[in-house]
Amino acid sequence: MNSKLLHISTIGCQMNVYDANQIAGVLAPMGYCGTDDIASADMVIVNTCTIREKAEQKAFSFLGRLAKLKAANPAMIVAVGGCVAQQEGKAILKRMPHVDLVFGTHAIFRLPEMVRRIEASRCRIVDVRLSDTIEFDGPVAGPLADGQVSAFVTIMRGCDNFCTYCVVPHVRGREASRHPDRILDEIRMRVDQGVREVTLLGQNVNSYGNKEGLCRFYELLERVNGIDGLSRIRFTTSHPKDLSRELIDAFGRLEKLCHHMHLPVQSGDDGILKRMNRRYTRDSYLDKIERLRTTCPDIAITSDFIVGFPGETDRQFQATLDLIEKVRYDGLFAFMYSDRPSAPATAFSGKIDESVKKERLQALLALQTGITREKHQTLVGQIREVLVEGTSRSLDTDGLASVDHTIQWTGRTSSNHIVHFAVPDDQATGKELLTGAFANIMIERAHAHSLWGRLVQGPMGATPEKGEKPIAA
Ligand code: 5AD
Ligand code: SF4
Repeated sequence: MNSKLLHISTIGCQMNVYDANQIAGVLAPMGYCGTDDIASADMVIVNTCTIREKAEQKAFSFLGRLAKLKAANPAMIVAVGGCVAQQEGKAILKRMPHVDLVFGTHAIFRLPEMVRRIEASRCRIVDVRLSDTIEFDGPVAGPLADGQVSAFVTIMRGCDNFCTYCVVPHVRGREASRHPDRILDEIRMRVDQGVREVTLLGQNVNSYGNKEGLCRFYELLERVNGIDGLSRIRFTTSHPKDLSRELIDAFGRLEKLCHHMHLPVQSGDDGILKRMNRRYTRDSYLDKIERLRTTCPDIAITSDFIVGFPGETDRQFQATLDLIEKVRYDGLFAFMYSDRPSAPATAFSGKIDESVKKERLQALLALQTGITREKHQTLVGQIREVLVEGTSRSLDTDGLASVDHTIQWTGRTSSNHIVHFAVPDDQATGKELLTGAFANIMIERAHAHSLWGRLVQGPMGATPEKGEKPIAA
């Protein structure tokens, strides 16, 4: 079989990163292997996102630029996958004559057949069928990067929540969970390949298995926790309304479960939450945060926010700022509301001016930057265990680690803080020596976006000392 070059370009969330890996996995048996050099590729796949208007624009401008490459190399197959493909379907073929294939979010496992047809007859194909069940449950997983210690594993797809601003239920379809045995098979396969940490993915992992009566999410976590060779478990995303007592308790029980919860709240005002169809209140959300912190005092909590939702008043926005001050998040993502096709809020009255949205976004981010800085400062002087992910790309301009003859490494704490540290060349001469190991790092300096420290206990991959000091809130 001739080897062919495949370039996959991914825009968007972790789900798309996972899908890109699956795409590589299903096409590998046809002889396609990955390349970073887009110009020399036999096939280019753009894996798109439509969660906000900007992401969609990015996808279309990237696709537009591919026209030139295709003109220079007419044999190249250009394919569009992901959420924009699902949403726009054959309109993409009309708008972009250089595109050969549009495949939706449920069509990944039909790709080999479609690609074969295109190779044979140069036809143009659109497949945006959505199904309510998972037709193919894998595991098919693509290649890992050299020394990759952490991998995504999708446990469910779609969403039934229909938040009024959100396009996901319309482009990813109804919620459907994978069978736990298949999930475990896939994780074991990744562990055999050298992975030490998995992140379980779904739009709302808290409702995993409910619909199918498979098992509850906390029960799945218990099973994953029992996998030999796996050291850490993360998951995302959680819907506050479905965060159960049992899942909160799991943080106190399961030793591999990382001390981090991403719990998107979107707004701190009950009226806005209601119009977003979030189905929890500010107080019930705060209650759950308190319970999480009682069960797991050093848990890091992060969130998503939307500013400028239709009708959001200054007072309602202030309620959001007030919530952020109360919770004191370890980090957050904030977005200006944007209309999405097929999302009900697009038809809501009271649209907010872009300039007001920008002001609100800046105020929110400024508040959180101060909180993050303060929380980072409290880590200075503490020893944290990190899973080493590789050599660090960012340069330490302050000099700590830029001394000659050192290698700079990056690791992640259980609470998902990224920590950089330097090790003399004579202690760790090769990249492989530390990657995938656990190391205890004394945090010495804290910046707004990064932490820097010093190795205090060798890399050995040895059982780490327990009882890290908690992150003080
Ligand atoms: N406008 C702005 N932000 C949005 N998000 C989802 N839909 C929209 C939209 N229409 C944000 C939410 C969600 C995150 C993934 O993207 O905060 O949690
Ligand atoms: Fe979108 Fe709401 Fe589902 Fe999250 S829970 S994917 S915001 S509809």
